[in-house]
Amino acid sequence: MDIRPIRDDEVDGAARWLGDQQADPARHIASESMDPAAIATDLRQLEPRGLEDVLVAVDGDTIVGLLGVEHDTDPPRVWWRGPFVADGADVDTVADALLAAGRAQLPDHVTEEEFGPDERHAWLPAVAGRHGFHAEEASAVLVRGLGGDLDDLRGAAEDPAGELVVVPATTDLAPVVAGLHDAIFPGTHASGSRIASARDDAAVLVARSGAEVTGYIAIERQQDATGYIDYLGVSPGARRGGVGRVLVAAGCLHLAEAYACPSVNLTVRESNRGARRLYESLGFVQERLIRPWRRGFSLAHLDSPPAS
Ligand SMILES: CC(C)(COP(=O)(O)OP(=O)(O)OC[C@H]1O[C@@H](n2cnc3c(N)ncnc32)[C@H](O)[C@@H]1OP(=O)(O)O)[C@@H](O)C(=O)NCCC(=O)NCCS
Repeated sequence: MDIRPIRDDEVDGAARWLGDQQADPARHIASESMDPAAIATDLRQLEPRGLEDVLVAVDGDTIVGLLGVEHDTDPPRVWWRGPFVADGADVDTVADALLAAGRAQLPDHVTEEEFGPDERHAWLPAVAGRHGFHAEEASAVLVRGLGGDLDDLRGAAEDPAGELVVVPATTDLAPVVAGLHDAIFPGTHASGSRIASARDDAAVLVARSGAEVTGYIAIERQQDATGYIDYLGVSPGARRGGVGRVLVAAGCLHLAEAYACPSVNLTVRESNRGARRLYESLGFVQERLIRPWRRGFSLAHLDSPPAS
């Protein structure tokens, strides 16, 4: 068995195979879509080096395993995309070989590692445990459709008191949003300055009450056209006043109307009952639980959501 970067002519076939694996909860990982076309695009655009960071295990001409090596400097972390192992191949042998090759090509500064399997994954937890990873609190994946008249969202996006307005974050508001984000989500995967940077397929909306920014929602259109709520934060002094509800409704409407997303999803800590109740009251339902396995860092200090 050899381990090497995937060739471009292999990507579409591999993406179809990954799509099948993603449809099975016992093989599903969080960071990959279920849609083969989106998976193929995603692999080609993997940060930071595209297909050079997509490793395949090959036995003769047959791909028997795949691992994406997505990594960054801020935080200095690798998010392992996989490993995926073909039916009939030895899981431990293939997964270990892919992981060893992936680690060998990481820059020295990358000291943090994460896997994100579905809670029902058949073998990744055992592989992760054997390699020194530890499990942390699961997050629920919540989804809702964005078809139909969306009257419920239109109603919820209106502030009954008429004081709150939701507007796209303009450049001058970027430092305010970044400050709020870093205070509410210290140590999370995207820093405040990153979420506040402009992109065509993503937006940050802010809630303003007069001159004061009381909350924000970061949303994006994903490769498979579905919408995603990346972050939602309300400043502690403004909580339980309906800001979060208005922001989620406005964010969903933006995804439906500006980005034509057929559905929206998000992840929320299992213990974050307040946020879950908020989403459920706006029609979101739980699709799955994702259990993060981490090595070299912990986000356990964030397990209890900030007091509201
Ligand atoms: C979650 C969060 C965004 C909610 O914002 P908010 O402005 O307080 O929410 P709203 O006032 O619009 O609440 C709407 C409904 O959600 C539910 N809810 C919100 N916070 C709750 C809490 N702490 N406990 C129980 N229910 C809660 C309630 O049903 C509430 O309706 P009610 O006040 O009429 O009972 C806010 O608490 C926050 O920023 N938390 C920290 C960051 C976070 O957890 N973000 C979500 C991660 S995905």
